[in-house]
Formats: sequence, structure tokens, C-alpha cells
Amino acid sequence: MTDILDYPIQALTEYVRYPSVSADSNFSAGVAGAREFATARLQELGFSVETIETPIHPVLLGTRGDPSWPKLVIYGHYDVQPPDPLDLWTTDPFDATEREGRLFGRGAADNKGPQIVHMVALHRALKQNPDLPLHITYLIEGEEEIGSPSFRPFLEDRKEQLMGDMLLVSDTGSPGPDQLVITTGLRGLTALEVKFIGPKQDLHSGVHGGALLNPLQALVQICSSLHDESGRVAVPGFYDEVVDPQEWEKGELSKLPINEDEYKNFLGVPSLSPPPGYSALEAIRFCPTLEFNGLGGGYQGEGSKTVIPSEAFAKITCRLVPNQKSYDIAEKVRKALESACPASIRVEVELKGGGDPYVVIPPGKPGSSGEETALMKKAFSLIEDCVDQQFGNRPIYLREGGSIPIIRDLQEVAGLEALMLGLFTNEDNLHAPNESFNLQIMERAIAAFENFFVRLGDEKK
Ligand code: BES
Ligand code: MN
Repeated sequence: MTDILDYPIQALTEYVRYPSVSADSNFSAGVAGAREFATARLQELGFSVETIETPIHPVLLGTRGDPSWPKLVIYGHYDVQPPDPLDLWTTDPFDATEREGRLFGRGAADNKGPQIVHMVALHRALKQNPDLPLHITYLIEGEEEIGSPSFRPFLEDRKEQLMGDMLLVSDTGSPGPDQLVITTGLRGLTALEVKFIGPKQDLHSGVHGGALLNPLQALVQICSSLHDESGRVAVPGFYDEVVDPQEWEKGELSKLPINEDEYKNFLGVPSLSPPPGYSALEAIRFCPTLEFNGLGGGYQGEGSKTVIPSEAFAKITCRLVPNQKSYDIAEKVRKALESACPASIRVEVELKGGGDPYVVIPPGKPGSSGEETALMKKAFSLIEDCVDQQFGNRPIYLREGGSIPIIRDLQEVAGLEALMLGLFTNEDNLHAPNESFNLQIMERAIAAFENFFVRLGDEKK
């Protein structure tokens, strides 16, 4: 009998075929399809799978093995980002296409490809040893790309089932097929939506211009007061809790096979602008940011229109580093916006949530407690060896710029520490048109994880 997981590229192609865009209710059939695909694969692997309803998209919880065995939890998300703008895709985002050693499709890298890697590796490991003595809990959610709003209540409800010896995640990045990264931290996030409200309706800018403050002008002034000339965030107290990176972490960065010039060219910018005291590659990992993700108001159509808009808006997110707190930073930004706002304009700030930053200190690195679970210690030393065998280099240890807020929740509520092996690269175009997954990384990572699972379950080692 053949199994879909005997053919990794076909398996990923089929997974991508379900357009599981969590943000848009028009895609609910695709979301359900991807969930059913994942459920079927877990069942074939011998898991019993529960589909747990949430207000938006259900969570899958699969388990196999004897509860007395070491407990491994594996995380993934079956949802994807919207494919827009569609006209910039070379091929259909949901009809995965292979070219140049990559499989192109929405979600191919974030996060369906890495999930197929884990599943195929486990499939092969279980063929070698059907009684592999690992108790595995599979946790696959469907709301990651919309900020996991249902996750915290789900976790509070099911924490007993999720407690274990460690968490395995592949939803972060690496430089390329010859050098993988073990991710030791994720930035936190906080999101705000801001409205700048002026006159009760749009006005003729000749009839009324000069008499009142234009909300767009207020937006520009207020928003530009949130950074200083050097590029640092100027929100009072923003950096109060920030802790400096450890020396060894800076040392790991120097092993990255990419320099600032190459990175600059990759981005297509004439120069990089990290905050003072940091290189650009350091800033992504070690510094917090305040970003404008969208600004708007007034006339956006063709030609000009002499109008004073009644209101303007800004969408802002901050990326956070240890020990900043999502809620505290949101409040600080709110205060800065309110106090920069002139009396002639009303500012409304809505906090949209986020998550706190996460760090894991690998067993044996400076600052580690030595009290990590036996499984965790074994896993970190095994993965180095398994990666080295397949990729020709030992992994380097780096924090990431991106966020997966639930990893921190799992640490806080279920006591899980994460081993995160990055499988996507900058070239994979996450969240952008022409997302793809590098098939060489896929093949090597399957072999590495097969070996990892077999040896992790081996009681002798
Ligand atoms: N897989 C990414 C997170 C990621 C991206 C980690 C790049 C490391 C490097 C995840 O799917 C994601 O996009 N997360 C969002 C979180 C948000 C929607 C709450 C992010 O980082 O913007
Ligand atoms: Mn994503």
C-alpha cells in the first residue's frame, strides 16, 4: 500500500492545493480542506486526532504512544496568508509548481513544507521502529496567520494534554541549504490601530482650508514624532525593559554566511538604517521596532482633489525583545500618540493585541539552568549531529526577527521549551507573491529529522 507521505513533493503539492487563508471567510472550504488533509496524515501515522472547535478555526490535537514515554510536542499551523496581489504570481498560488529546485505556492514554506518534513521524517522513523518509544502530541492550529486569537483559551483548557518534555517547531528561517539555524528567540509583537479625527465631514479645501488642522497633517506630525533623527523609537519608556544580547549570541551572528552588503542588495535598498550601535543583521534580532504598516486618509483616486478629509488612520505594530511586555508597550505608544495630538484633533487608539517575546537558552550555553529535561538536552545535542550529517555544517544559534506568539504561551502555561529548527530562507518570499520552499532543504531536513526521531527514541543513547 502506498502512502501520500512516501512522496514528499506530492504530499506538499496536495497540502498547498487547499487554500487555507485564515483571514478571509471566503476561504473557509480551503481552511477545512487543509485541516482534513493534516488530520488524515496524522491518522495514517498512527495518531488519534481530536478536532477542537474554537470561535474561528479549529485546532488539531493528535497523540500517539504510551504516556510513560518521554513526551514530545510538535507544533505547526495549517493556515496561510492571503495570496494577494494575485497578478504578481508567476503561477497559481494554490496549484503548486516545481521550478529551479523549488516548489512555488502559498504556504509552501510558511508552514506547510516544514510540516510535511516533520511528517515524512516521522513516517520513515516509524517504519524503522513502529514502537518508537516517544509519546508525541501533534498540535496544528489554524489561526497563526491572524495572531492566534483562540489559542490562549484553548491552551488554558487543554494544558494538561500539552505538558511534556519539549516542543519541536519548524516555522522559522535559516540562511540557506548549507547552513541551518536553531532559533533561540522570537520577537514579541503589539498592534495598534489609530484614528485621527477632524471635521465632522470631508471639506472643500478652498472654502475651509487655513481655518483648521487637516487630520492627515496631524497624522504625519504625530507619527513622525514616534522616532528620533537617529532612527530610535522616541516613545517615552520604550527601551526601559530591553536587555542586551549575550556576547555568545553576537558571536553566532558572525557565522552567518551573508554580509550586510549582500543583504542590502537582496532588499534592493541603497543603504541600510539600523539604530545607532547595531548592525542591520543585529538589529533584526536584538532591537525592538515601531513600524507603520499602513497609513491612509483623504483622496486616493486618480488625479487631484481639493479636499480636507474628515479623518486619517495609521496601523502600527511594534516588534519586541526581552523583557518588553506587549501590553505595556502598547500603552506607552498609546500615551505618546495621545500626548502628541493637538487639541484640534481627536485621536482614537485601539489596542489589537500581540504577544510577548520568547527566548530559549540552549542546554549548555551561557546562562542555561542545567535543569532542562533529559529529552531537551538529548534533542539539542542530537539535532546538531543530524543536521551536520545532512547539511555539511553544524547549525548556528540565532534569535529571529519574526514572531510566533503562542510559543511563549506554551512556555508559560505548559512549561514547554522549544527546539526550533529553521527551514525556510529569505528567498522563499513568505507572505509575498511567489512564495516557495527549497526542495534541497526539504530533502536534507527529512533525512535529518528521520535520524533525529529514531535516535531521540532510542533509550540507549
Ligand atoms: N512563520 C512566521 C513567523 C516567522 C517569520 C518566524 C519569519 C521567523 C521568521 C509566522 O507564520 C508569522 O508570519 N508570524 C506573524 C505573527 C503575527 C501574525 C501575529 C509575524 O511574525 O508577523
Ligand atoms: Mn506567516
